[in-house]
Parts: sequence; C-alpha cells; structure tokens
Amino acid sequence: MNAATWRDTLRDRLGARIGLSPERAWCWRRAEAAFATWAASAPQQRWPQLVAELLARPYDDPTLRALIAHATVNETWFYRDPQQLEALLAWARVRHAEIRRPLRLWSAGCATGAEPYSLAMALTAAGIPARILGTDLSEPALAVARDGGPYPRHRVALLPAELQRRFLVPSGVAVRLHPALRDTVAFRSHNLAADPLPQLPGGWDAILCRNVFIYFTVAQARATAQRMQAALAPGGRLVLGAADRVIGLVSTPPLGRPPAAYAPAEGRAGAPLPAPPRRATASVEDVRRALRAGALGAAEHGAAALLAGADPAPDAWLLSGVVHLARHRFADAEASAERAGRAGAGAFDVELLGAMAAERLDRPHVALRRLERATAIRPSAWAPRLRRALRLRRAGRLLPAEAELQRVAALLDEGADPFAGASDLSAVEGHHLDFEAATQLVATILDELGDLTGNPTTLGRPS
Ligand SMILES: C[S@@+](CC[C@H](N)C(=O)[O-])C[C@H]1O[C@@H](n2cnc3c(N)ncnc32)[C@H](O)[C@@H]1O
Repeated sequence: MNAATWRDTLRDRLGARIGLSPERAWCWRRAEAAFATWAASAPQQRWPQLVAELLARPYDDPTLRALIAHATVNETWFYRDPQQLEALLAWARVRHAEIRRPLRLWSAGCATGAEPYSLAMALTAAGIPARILGTDLSEPALAVARDGGPYPRHRVALLPAELQRRFLVPSGVAVRLHPALRDTVAFRSHNLAADPLPQLPGGWDAILCRNVFIYFTVAQARATAQRMQAALAPGGRLVLGAADRVIGLVSTPPLGRPPAAYAPAEGRAGAPLPAPPRRATASVEDVRRALRAGALGAAEHGAAALLAGADPAPDAWLLSGVVHLARHRFADAEASAERAGRAGAGAFDVELLGAMAAERLDRPHVALRRLERATAIRPSAWAPRLRRALRLRRAGRLLPAEAELQRVAALLDEGADPFAGASDLSAVEGHHLDFEAATQLVATILDELGDLTGNPTTLGRPS
C-alpha cells in the first residue's frame, strides 16, 4: 500500500468518529503529522493497519485522544460576539422571570471554557441563577477550562471591564478565573458526532454551539443541530455562530443581525431572541465608507444589518469579514471569507481576507496558498506579495522570500497601487501599505536577506 492509503484511512475513520469535514485541510494536516510522528518507528507498510487500529480504540485511549486534539481548533475568547451574548442575556432575564428556577445552559464545543465562563459572569452580574455545562472533545482544551485558565490577556480583551475586575485574577502575564466563578461551571468530555447528548429532565433552556459546525460535514451539522433542538426545553433556544454551516438548514430568519441566535424552523422553540438596538438599514457603500473612515462600530452595525436582509449581497459577507478581522475575530473572518467566496464576492478580496485570517489563526500554509492566489489574480498588487514575502521569510524560506521582495521593490519603484485596484481590505491593512514605510521595510529586509543568502539585492537602504 502506498502513503496515500494511510491518509485515506485516517480521513475516513477519524472523519466518521468526530464529524470533521474533508475541507478542513489544516486540521487534517495536523492530525496526519501527529500520526506520522507517533508511527515513525514502524515501517510505513504497517501504517494503514496502525491507523485503523488506533481509530478503533475507545475514546478514553490517551493516544487517540491526543490525535483527536490535533485535529481540533480550539480558538476562542471571552465575550466572543458581544451583541449575541447581550441578546441572550436579555432573553435569559425574561426566561428566568417566566420559569422561576435556575436556567440550564449547555455550551457545546466550549474549547478552553471562555464561552461558558462568559455566560456565567454575565448571568451572575445580572443576578440570574443558572446551571452551566461546558463540553468539548479536546482534553487539553478541557484541562484549561477546568483549571479556570491561565488565559492570555488578549483573550479577555472584549470582556467588559467590570466583569474583568470582578471575576479575573492576574496570573503572571496571563489571567485566571476567580475560583468562586470557576466552580459554577461544570465541564465534561463529549463528542457531538457520536455520544448521546447530555440530557436534563425537562430539557435545556439554551444550547450554545458556536463556531463548531463550521468544522463538520453538512450532514453531521444537520444531524447534530436536529438532536440539539430535540434536547431543548419548551421555549428553549439553540444559539449558533453566524458562520456555522447549519445556517440555511434551519428556516427561521436571523434575529435581525448576524451573528445571531437562530431558532429552529419548527418544534418546541418559540419566538426569536430580542435583538439589541441597531440601525435598521444600511447599504454596502455605507459600510465601505464607515470602514474607510475607521468607524468600526458603524461598520459593524451596518454589516450586521446587511446580512440580516433576506438576500444579502456577496459583498456583505466580505465586509462583515473585514469587520471581524479588524475586531480580531479571526475564525469568524475566515468563515466570512468562505461564505463570501461561495456567494460570488470578488476573488481577490476573498483570498486576501482568508489569508489574513489564516495568518492570525497560525495557519501559515493556508495563508501562503491564499496569498499566492490573490497574487495570481492581480499580479501587480504589491500588498499580498509583501505579506507573502514576510511569511516566507518567517518560515525560513529565504530565497523565495528574497525573490518576492525583489518583485515588490520593482512594483514600488513603478509606483504601483498596493492592491492594483479597489479593495475592501485596504481599510485594515495597516502600516505596510504606506508607500514610504513599505519601501523602507523592503529595503531593510532585502539587505538582511542579501547578507544571509549571498545574493545581491536590487534596492539599497533609502538614504
Ligand atoms: C473554534 S472552537 C469554538 C469554541 C467556542 N464555542 C467559541 O465559539 O468560542 C471549536 C471547538 O469545537 C470542538 N469540537 C470539534 N469537533 C467536536 C466534536 N465532534 N464534539 C465536540 N466538540 C468538538 C473543538 O475541540 C473546539 O474546541
């Protein structure tokens, strides 16, 4: 059997066990690399058999657990999508007044716990009692959740200051949860693709499953969403991330803005969650103008309003992605790039948005591939070329980095436009796009690379 065969077996069996979509190339590469390292001492002819045996083991097998952890993306942060959490909080107030018992909430695919802890903080501050469960497939992520941290400070940046003061304690350069809050959330290992859903007599008041279905096959997402709907209490809510694939599979319209909590098309859930106040209408041009002016709040509301419409324009997804990127919601930005691409938005901007998100999600190969595509679409755009060169340099690929920088230098010499035309990404590209700064940067790096590679450089330092 050849090397492709163990990969095929890995994809078939692991995909079936955890629902991972064949499209999530980065997850598969990580899983493959983890398996290859583990199996390295065995002859390659045995790998198909080894991979099959490993994937037939029970979930509590530590090697299988480690492999699964490599195939997951645990990107999360506190108060992710604040508007959605605020809408949920408003709904929770009404719900608690109606049912007069602690709310029962399940955060499915909770990663390192930022989502259930954000809920716990907001509900405690609002005086709404709740029992909260967080579940995930990844043991390393759950270990951080159970310990209440540590969390790097950038992961709590969106958390309102009052909640930070009340519920976080400094821990070196990071922060931890106050133990009293930590103990209000229970965590459990759970595989959404295979295990029975955690059940409560009477059902869950809300199930949050945000930014998880984007990793699933459509069939798996649909099946899991349906099981979740059946596990809700009467009037309960299933709360998904804006980009989750299941959108389109449930027919109730969004709550007036994306990312939104979606109610099921039929069944036991009732009226949609109340949406926070926002502008009723916006045009694509309004949002573009706001972005260019650096008015991020207005751009965010506008993009949300565009996506809440019945048939959002392809550029609405793109603009929403640019807002996510500017707000450092990189997984959301990447998901928006995919949606924008499927909806037919301009390919150059789609690739550039996807590349910038992938860079920040630490997926260098995806970023490089997308930058290459952007460069192929607009060869005289120097902004993606500069990014590509910096990325290659960081990966230690000095000769191709140098060659790309030479092309950037030539384009700068010609006075070329960074994007070779209009681009919504120009609003977030930052200092690299200033002509003087870029010239200086390119000259400096070319000098350094010339020293390292022994190649002559065309552009000296500016005098
Ligand atoms: C991107 S994180 C989302 C975290 C959080 N919900 C948020 O929105 O910030 C996706 C999480 O889903 C988990 N996950 C992926 N497949 C899963 C499965 N089959 N069962 C349970 N969790 C899964 C991953 O381990 C990861 O922690």
